[in-house]
Amino acid sequence: MLNGKNIVVGVTGGIAAYKAADVVSRLKKLGANVYVIMTEHSTKFIQPLTFQSISQNYVVTDMFEDPKTWDVEHISLAKRADCFLIVPATANIVGKVAHGIADDMLTTTLMATVAPVFFALAMNTKMYENPIFKNNVATLERYGYHMILPESGRLACGDVGAGKLADPEHIVQAVVAYLSRERRMTGKRVLVTAGPTREPIDPVRYITNHSSGKMGYAIATEALNEGAEVILISGPTGLTPPPNATFIAVESTQDMYDAVMAHLDVDVIIKAAAPADYKAQSISDQKIKKESEDLTLSFVKNQDILKAVGKIKTHQILVGFAAETTDVEAHAKKKLLEKNLDFIVANDVTVEGAGFNGDTNIVTLFEKEGHSTSYECLHKNEVARIILDKVIERF
Ligand code: PMT
Repeated sequence: MLNGKNIVVGVTGGIAAYKAADVVSRLKKLGANVYVIMTEHSTKFIQPLTFQSISQNYVVTDMFEDPKTWDVEHISLAKRADCFLIVPATANIVGKVAHGIADDMLTTTLMATVAPVFFALAMNTKMYENPIFKNNVATLERYGYHMILPESGRLACGDVGAGKLADPEHIVQAVVAYLSRERRMTGKRVLVTAGPTREPIDPVRYITNHSSGKMGYAIATEALNEGAEVILISGPTGLTPPPNATFIAVESTQDMYDAVMAHLDVDVIIKAAAPADYKAQSISDQKIKKESEDLTLSFVKNQDILKAVGKIKTHQILVGFAAETTDVEAHAKKKLLEKNLDFIVANDVTVEGAGFNGDTNIVTLFEKEGHSTSYECLHKNEVARIILDKVIERF
């Protein structure tokens, strides 16, 4: 089932480290080549020799030991891997990777890889519920890392709650399912827009909106996971683009328009961005001084990028979003028609858990043929999957 797949297993320092031996053994039995990297802390819980015997490969623990081959070890493993599996994944490794810390063999190798990475989480319940940890997990998920969630039960520390390492069988199943999953968008080119745009007023000020880019980046990541070639055109966000996407950074709506128009040679266009609809009629050369009690600025309409694409599109599947505050259905259906879309993803941005900034969204998909489907509050990654399922149905 995993014949010839190269899987790098990272073992970190938690009490569940001994269960990683079972995971390695199962992966081997399924035909994978398994390479184990242990953190120094993990060697306090279990010996490298255990993993060496089971994996039949040399186990790396020390970044600075004499190299066994002439390859730069962390780069060669990072390149060779079809998949990384961190088991158990402690709060410490999650925090380090989420913050780009690369101070040992495992973290440097993880930093250097573009292979999918799974974290099989295991820790004390209070650590698992700690908002700092939750935030780090959310950061990693946004970058496209996969989490294998822990189970609830009695933990080694005596506490009862969530944090127990998932059953080794389930951990292996998650990896098998991912590696044998059909890449349904292989050979397809997908253009995604994300984030806000900024319209300058003077050299120090601009108008913008609350878009964080999370929705668009989640779609780009999922399309990459489905094997697509992805172009991500993004306004300014605090996010790091997914590795492997062709990334084009833009500022204003006009910049986004130009970038989109230059990349129409794709199969799918998904416009999750929130471009500013208006721009200042004139941009002051100097900082506007606060001399008068009030200030009136004039704005003129920006290009409607989606509408312009809808007019000239040929074969492309065109997907828009509708960010609404009232009459969601009526407004969304109007945009669907006016912009010549295949379907539109409507979200009421006034509802808790939907729209701007958060990790979740609540959407209804309206299709040009007339059907619509509403979804409950879901993580933006899941919303992205739903959107791509709909696109794939249309191929
Ligand atoms: O980025 P996040 O924080 O994750 O938030 C996600 C989101 C709320 C931004 C996203 O879910 C969303 O609703 N995106 C569309 C925002 C928007 O501009 O909606 P709209 O109803 O104003 O525009 C309709 C469609 O036209 C959108 O696909 C938009 O990208 C597009 N548009 C709008 C204006 C413009 N000048 N050109 C466009 O192409």
